Amino acid sequence: MKRNARYLLAGSVLLLTFLGVSLSSGVAKEPNTTKTKAINDIMVGKCMSCHSQGYDLPFYAAIPGIKEVIEKDYRDGLRAMDISTEFQTETANQPFNEAALAKMEWVILNDTMPPAKFAMVHWGSKLTVQERDDILKWVKDTRAEHYATGAATKELANEPLQPIVAMDVDEQKVAIGKILFDDKRLSADSTLACSGCHAMEKGGTDQQQFSEGIKEQFGDVNAPTVFNSAYNVEQFWDGRSADLQEQAGGPPLNPIEMGSKTWDEIIERLTADEDLTTAFTEVYPSGWSAENITNAIAEFEKTLITPNSPFDKWLMGDESALTKNQLEGYRLFKLYRCSSCHVGQSVGGQSYEYMDLKADYFTLEEKTPLNSDKGRMNFTKDPNDMHKFKVPNLRNIEHTYPYMHDGTVTSLDESVRIMGDYLTGIAVPKKARDLIVEFLRSLSGELNGKPLEGTPAPN
Ligand code: HEC
Ligand code: HEC
Ligand code: HEC
Repeated sequence: MKRNARYLLAGSVLLLTFLGVSLSSGVAKEPNTTKTKAINDIMVGKCMSCHSQGYDLPFYAAIPGIKEVIEKDYRDGLRAMDISTEFQTETANQPFNEAALAKMEWVILNDTMPPAKFAMVHWGSKLTVQERDDILKWVKDTRAEHYATGAATKELANEPLQPIVAMDVDEQKVAIGKILFDDKRLSADSTLACSGCHAMEKGGTDQQQFSEGIKEQFGDVNAPTVFNSAYNVEQFWDGRSADLQEQAGGPPLNPIEMGSKTWDEIIERLTADEDLTTAFTEVYPSGWSAENITNAIAEFEKTLITPNSPFDKWLMGDESALTKNQLEGYRLFKLYRCSSCHVGQSVGGQSYEYMDLKADYFTLEEKTPLNSDKGRMNFTKDPNDMHKFKVPNLRNIEHTYPYMHDGTVTSLDESVRIMGDYLTGIAVPKKARDLIVEFLRSLSGELNGKPLEGTPAPN
């Protein structure tokens, strides 16, 4: 039976028996924030049945033939967004996630939810004009309160992408952190510094598919950029480090990266350097320790923010900063839903998403299976996190090749094509890809007031 026909059947069963009765009898782990009461009511009444775990499916979901369709929508809906979880996180005194907010805005602006074929047969499930306005206003207010950097012009203040701004830092700690970031003594055989894999002249990466650690060892995941990583929700592709300081504790003791066995061993090498020890103790009176070393490195990384890209200048009011093609590329970037995941001031880094959201990426013939393919599940052990990755930030993207966690993609055009096929589910035509790539190049900013060094990726 065709999908639509099944829907019609489901719809008529519903209409005949429960005309006008609300979507589902079950009440999920209902969000409860007074601030967003109106929004909660819309979600519970019109969205949660397909977007929330533990929500009872409508009674007709048990009817053979209908069951499969409804289960598929439920599964796809839940994979696209678990609304219940998003609201719960908000209740725990955190703002609603920035990427989830952008997704909500996108489905309302593009009028895709509830799905048309569903709304067609299910009276009263469509959003009213008032409800749409309420959701859009809530998105705007939440963004303004928690995510807008305040640097954009008034007209562009509610864009899903925001101008990136510098962070407050302790300059003394930064100076010592910079030295340590470049210090090979952090590695077991004194051959490799953090900057060996995160080079300033290579967009904060090593521009290799997989990084080479000490003793010619290779990992199985591409090194993300350290530029702007201070704005990531968490660190690493799987989010196993909460912040930069915790992250900086990883590589030195990772056997296939810098390979030291203990911090004592590292500290012994550093202590032998009297000048550095004196300088360090001036900033950190308690002296060498893993805690202090990682604190200094993290402080330095907070200065690796790259503002003043043409795109930032445009957001801040310079109308000539973007070419006509780049402007059109940005419009398409939003239209093709890219900005639902690559969001905010770092154009990513705010959420975890399925790399196989819309199609199976991992069984492609040319793929070599990798342990890193499991994504966030490697850290959380939750099967629902299989193939989920922290969304990379797209700032300076022309410098941070090759692309994807598996480092298999070398051109920007190919990245955009893959995103269309596997993440947004809409194939992006070549002409649109070209424009999006032109826009992506406008995201290259300045490090310490100078344009980034290095050779940009090919189209
Ligand atoms: C009949 C089930 C169903 C209902 C009801 C429903 N959705 Fe969806 N939703 C889906 C499915 C299936 C997807 C997967 C994407 C698609 O259809 O393209 C999805 C995707 C989404 C996404 C992710 C963006 C995307 O395009 O993938 C958001 C956000 C969303 N829905 C919000 C809502 C909101 C808000 C409501 C209530 C107004 C709602 N949905 C009602 C089934 C549903
Ligand atoms: C052998 C190469 C190598 C060295 C040396 C190295 N890194 Fe990395 N770095 C990587 C790889 C590969 C990843 C991704 C690992 C993952 O996500 O599982 C990464 C991830 C990161 C991230 C997370 C970025 C993000 O977007 O999640 C930061 C920050 C970082 N490294 C900083 C450092 C610092 C600080 C040091 C020195 C203490 C360092 N790295 C040393 C290769 C390296
Ligand atoms: C549903 C969320 C989502 C959407 C929508 C999305 N992306 Fe992505 N994007 C990701 C994730 C997750 C990755 C990393 C996947 C991986 O490495 O396995 C990624 C990776 C990328 C990369 C490579 C970045 C790097 O450093 O490796 C580029 C470029 C990119 N996306 C651009 C786009 C464009 C352009 C669009 C719109 C056509 C888009 N994305 C839509 C989530 C998304």
